[in-house]
Amino acid sequence: MSTQTSSFDRTESPLIFDLGAPGRANRYVEQGPPLESFLPKNVLRDDLPLPDNSELDVVRHFTKLSQRTFGIDLGFYPLGSCTMKYNPRVNDAMATKREFAQLHPYTPDELAQGALQVMYELERSLASLFGMAAFSLNPSAGAHAELAALLIAKKYFKDRGESKRDKVIVPDTAHGTNPASAAMCGFKVISLPSDERGRVSVEEIKKVLGPDTAVCMMTNPNTLGLFEDHIHEIAKAVHDAGGLMYYDGANANAIMGNVRPGDMGFDLMHLNTHKTFTIPHGGGGAGHGPLGVAAHLVDYLPTPVVRAEPCHPVRSEAESKDRPHAPSDRLQFSLDFDRPKSIGPMRSFWSNFAHAVRALAYIYANGADGLKKVSQLAVLNANYVRVKVADFLETPYPEICRHEFVASAQDLKKETGVKALDLAKALLDHGMMAPTMYFPLIVPECLMIEPTETESKETLDQFIAVLRDIVEEAKRNPDAIMAAPVTTVVGRVDETRAARQPDLKWTPA
Ligand SMILES: Cc1ncc(COP(=O)(O)O)c(C=O)c1O
Repeated sequence: MSTQTSSFDRTESPLIFDLGAPGRANRYVEQGPPLESFLPKNVLRDDLPLPDNSELDVVRHFTKLSQRTFGIDLGFYPLGSCTMKYNPRVNDAMATKREFAQLHPYTPDELAQGALQVMYELERSLASLFGMAAFSLNPSAGAHAELAALLIAKKYFKDRGESKRDKVIVPDTAHGTNPASAAMCGFKVISLPSDERGRVSVEEIKKVLGPDTAVCMMTNPNTLGLFEDHIHEIAKAVHDAGGLMYYDGANANAIMGNVRPGDMGFDLMHLNTHKTFTIPHGGGGAGHGPLGVAAHLVDYLPTPVVRAEPCHPVRSEAESKDRPHAPSDRLQFSLDFDRPKSIGPMRSFWSNFAHAVRALAYIYANGADGLKKVSQLAVLNANYVRVKVADFLETPYPEICRHEFVASAQDLKKETGVKALDLAKALLDHGMMAPTMYFPLIVPECLMIEPTETESKETLDQFIAVLRDIVEEAKRNPDAIMAAPVTTVVGRVDETRAARQPDLKWTPA
């Protein structure tokens, strides 16, 4: 089977600055008044050699660049923990509607009722889907919401005269942002080893609980794709010790509409709407990490919080009878900044508002039953791939998983020298993105595979066949796999140098 992508020309492509010629730009754009007429002289630069390109040069240049990279619109993207599912275009169409996209963040509440209603309805939808009393849409990413949650925990314990609670428990399968957020917030991190089933054991956690416990941060299903089936006992033990339970909701794609963190006993949680609710990662800027809390922590949520109050006069009885399901046109929405116990804003303005629009569009397009099915299909797809991959790669936790699973290339490496990294690179030659590698840290030569619910059986079968071929080729000709990728624009890079000495600046000749 061949899924080889067409071979790219590896020759250097010119920079936009190398294209064009003087006078080519702006054929259709009328010259406006000179910059000097509206900008002060001291902010003007006349030394910028801006490129002078025709529209065609620009379109071709950026279209070519877009083809030199890889994205979900081009092929399968099984990047575990990142939920790289397909983003329905209708969500973008909603977010880019003029009424939303051009709304100025300083617009007074009275003139922004539609946008505030979007935020209110998203907040209410998330609260009911995940069993929390309230959500703040303010944080801009999962990690940002983790930090907000820990700031809340700190303030909550201070108010209760329990500032001595300075320990945050984090299982060894946790995403790196969990201990990083705890440390940033001034907590001491206690790393908890997973048991042989890849879960947190009730006995182990009881050993580290005490009067200094502040928060236990858990991901459920965890990053091995396994459901923490003792979650009620764990939550009870943490609560009995006086601590709070934090739910890292990056894996919410596995549970939406099926179980709720609030019912599992969590006090705080975040969602990565840029995963679970199909928003593109990054989304052209920051992400979006709504933070949910149980009733006893609502007052601490970041500001602003969207409020809805009945308008006066409220609906007459006759009106209500005629239009029992009429939209909330009798509610008045406002942003509440006046919350004395709040930890304050986590960022400027309301939130990453365009993502709130996308998330609500996705929720309404699917409905409650649809969201439940999304998670069930994500779990079905992951288990389908897991069982087939187990034929040719070790799967260290061979039991029903949730939305993702881990495989290990440890045995293959011993036999052939080919590592998880090499398998991942070889997949790129077949037009497929590599799975997440070497995470979670407790699995040697780990490949974490998350197919998502948006992929068809044919695509999953193709991925399984390609991975099987690569593993077989590794046994016959390991050097070929260790040389991959050979068809991509860039081959293997010195990743340490790329991270430590990035060369991102253009300097005019
Ligand atoms: C399990 C888990 N927790 C937290 C995060 C952090 O989320 P964000 O990248 O939005 O900051 C991630 C991101 O991949 C994750 O996978």
